[in-house]
Amino acid sequence: MKLNRSVSRFALGAVLLGASAWNTFAAEETLRDLAKERGRYIGAILNSEWFRGDIEPEFEQIHKTQFNTVVAENEMKFDATEPSEGQFNYTYGDKMVQYAKENGMRVRGHALAWHSQVPNWVNNYKGQKEKLLQVLKTHIDSVVGHWKGDVAEWDVVNEAVNDGDHTWRDQGSVWFETIGEEFLDSAFVWAHAADPDAELCYNDYAIEWGLGQGSKAGFVLEQVKRWKENGIPITCVGTQTHIEIAHETTPENVRAFAKALAEYGVTLNITELDIGFPNGSASSLGAADYAKQGHLYRQFMDVFLEEPNMGEFVIWGLTDAHSWLDAQQGKTQGLLWDKQYKPKPAFDSLIVSFKAHPASEVVTPYKLDKDTTSIARHVESPRISASLVGRTLSISGASSAKIELFDMQGRPVFSGKAESSSINLSNIAEGLYVVRIHAGSANLIQRIAIK
Ligand code: G3I
Repeated sequence: MKLNRSVSRFALGAVLLGASAWNTFAAEETLRDLAKERGRYIGAILNSEWFRGDIEPEFEQIHKTQFNTVVAENEMKFDATEPSEGQFNYTYGDKMVQYAKENGMRVRGHALAWHSQVPNWVNNYKGQKEKLLQVLKTHIDSVVGHWKGDVAEWDVVNEAVNDGDHTWRDQGSVWFETIGEEFLDSAFVWAHAADPDAELCYNDYAIEWGLGQGSKAGFVLEQVKRWKENGIPITCVGTQTHIEIAHETTPENVRAFAKALAEYGVTLNITELDIGFPNGSASSLGAADYAKQGHLYRQFMDVFLEEPNMGEFVIWGLTDAHSWLDAQQGKTQGLLWDKQYKPKPAFDSLIVSFKAHPASEVVTPYKLDKDTTSIARHVESPRISASLVGRTLSISGASSAKIELFDMQGRPVFSGKAESSSINLSNIAEGLYVVRIHAGSANLIQRIAIK
């Protein structure tokens, strides 16, 4: 990709001189317009203070002007949407969906199955596998079903890979400890059944460190390969990317990961970017520090725009005045606007990156729909559905179909042809399976329980 050298040299020089010369960009160009022209999405969280009506008016004014995708910091997590068993609370999520509709924004849903922010009533079912499977299925059916067509993309599973040995997070996760690895497959299958048009992501942190032997990203890539082979309907991976200015190799690691995932038709999204400085350093930070931060933000945007397999660039906050970094991460000043809502060099760097990548040169992984504000990814395919009665699997919407059955470890168990829209599965042992049905251009993936 040929960059416009004069723009980048001039831009970098000006950023090093300090942000003031660049605030003019803030007046004329918006990140969302530049992203939309390129069929891409740039977003930021709605902080919990926004939901509580406890945030400065500048926040929303900037947010709806600069971003075309939105995600809730906490308000669509398990503890917020199902605080007690079977009692769902969609109030805050509905508020965000309404805001997104009013402002032409795509909505990310975060997060369906995560070991953290799980209400105690769920943890109390630890050890009861069938009950927890039912709890997870009911949660996903209800929450994804409630926002069907409104939430374009879900973080179906969040942070299921261990730090350190980079295998599954088998400690501190009620889902993994009680159900095992199959909770991930099931979560994706149930989310797809609840909203077949939603993008379904696996989201994690520290997967911006390369694909080397034993790496966390390498483990995630192996799972994506297996899921795709087994017809598990994952469509994207989210790299959270909570980093520091010293992490200079991470943009190119993200590029390599995007290329690797492209082999499987799975998009890579940056889902929680912030580039923080050590806590307590704010008073000693100068123009050169913020220029370096801007340069690293710019490198991520360059990679994002140059890689055809990337769709969303989401920042885990808008202003340094409201950021989890200070309260929980021992960092600070990691975002695009300072505590007085003034744009920092990082904002200008993103503008410069967009301008250095003309829309004609940027590929989108999405199919632009008529108004291009909410970009649909799936090509519409004929609708088919399946139901199991006893041992007979009936397919509606297709007279004949290819049937493949996989056990919950992804091993093929059976394949056959459903003639006159049904097939008998009498010789399949009792148990849980994933059935994949192909009928012409229509595909359906569904969990079935053979009793
Ligand atoms: O809502 C309660 C409030 O009633 C109570 O008074 C207050 C004080 O205890 O706590 C409030 O809940 C807090 C919640 O944020 C809402 O503000 C929790 O204590 C606090 O732990 C929670 O922190 C969130 C954190 O996830 C939890 O793990 C952060 O805001 C949020 O930014 C952070 O986001 C995560 C992503 O979901 C996943 N990736 C990492 C990212 C950063 O940790």
